[in-house]
Amino acid sequence: MKIEDIKAIQILDSRGNPTLRVSVKADQKWGDFSVPSGASTGTFEAHELRDGGKAYHGLGVEKAIKHIDNEIKEALVGQDVFDQKNIDRILTELDGTENKSKLGANAILGVSGASTRLASKMLNLPLYKYIRAIFEQDGKWQPDLKLSENNFVMPKMFFNILNGGKHADNNVDIQETMIMPNRDSVAENVKIAAEVYMTLKEIIKSKQLNVSLGDEGGFAPDLESNNKALDLVLEAIVGSGYKPGEDVYLALDVAANELYKDDSDEKYVLNGDSVSLSAVQLVSLYKEFLATYPIISIEDGLAEEDWDGWKMMSERIGDKVQLVGDDLFVTNVTRIQKGIDLNAANSVLIKMNQIGTITETFDAIKLARANGYKVFVSHRSGETEDSYIADLVVGTGAGQIKAGAPARGERTSKYNRLLEIEKELNG
Ligand code: PGA
Ligand code: ZN
Repeated sequence: MKIEDIKAIQILDSRGNPTLRVSVKADQKWGDFSVPSGASTGTFEAHELRDGGKAYHGLGVEKAIKHIDNEIKEALVGQDVFDQKNIDRILTELDGTENKSKLGANAILGVSGASTRLASKMLNLPLYKYIRAIFEQDGKWQPDLKLSENNFVMPKMFFNILNGGKHADNNVDIQETMIMPNRDSVAENVKIAAEVYMTLKEIIKSKQLNVSLGDEGGFAPDLESNNKALDLVLEAIVGSGYKPGEDVYLALDVAANELYKDDSDEKYVLNGDSVSLSAVQLVSLYKEFLATYPIISIEDGLAEEDWDGWKMMSERIGDKVQLVGDDLFVTNVTRIQKGIDLNAANSVLIKMNQIGTITETFDAIKLARANGYKVFVSHRSGETEDSYIADLVVGTGAGQIKAGAPARGERTSKYNRLLEIEKELNG
């Protein structure tokens, strides 16, 4: 079945910044995809094309839309919608740059994602089943493929309920303090997360702190120290009637790039604690955290080019906790392979727009998994109502997802879609 048309419109993301919604057409049907956008982005991410100039403070995406209307449409009309690998190969070759800076990774991902949605619609398959099929079949739909109904794995969910760093206006350095409810079902985990979130709000109010929210929907009060962020979340878990380290675990995204200053030996500046720390000292702080709190993963604990630091961190605490590379790996197989070779981490964060196509996203997941790395599928801080990553995490069996707070439409769309999928599979 051949692609007949492609179009894109400029929409707003959850921060109010422009982004793209792309639609691909075949046989009277359209498949859509809305592109997310990061704030604490890694240097080595694929390029997000923005217009510059005055309108939308330079953040418009009309240039990316022009590329879709012209070169991309010309190259893809007539191509088989069920051959995702071919679609993505044409897109990357048409761009021709290392980081997709010519056409824009936002334009490319929009088309790549919309193609898979269209294909799933044409087959009358839920998106996660179509993703599973092409993930396992080397990027191409095979008509005779038998999909087993029974071996889909629902992911562990990480809810970001306390925001800091670049996602909030408070003094907390840790960008994300997440909770992972430890039940088997999505419905029960969503319930626990929502209850802890409600309790956290009550606690913050009772302490006369500010209940304003950060970009991912978590609370963002000013606190005396980074430890206090963890204490508050722990208090909310206990206050909701759950046992930390049994019913609910903690996870951190330090986003340490944002703390890193390359002008002294004490490179990591923690404003909330009024200290500057070396990588060794910062990992010692993590060690203290691990002894005190039930933390099961630390993302971007060190900066994206501090490879020696990451090796040291892995040696010291890698056997106790998931050490997740986000800005470190940027969903890029070259950087993931480097991490594997150096023994720098043990887990990878997957963000489609860091690399720019569905096929390359699959490649990153496969490489990580083949080397024993744990996998997290992730939203961005700038999100849309699109729930694609819920289907992605189920379809690829990645096992873990983070999609922000259990609140605000652009976050709940992912959790609500997981509720729907669980119901469908149980039914
Ligand atoms: P970002 O944040 O989307 O702003 O990069 C999410 C993360 O760091 O995991
Ligand atoms: Zn991160």
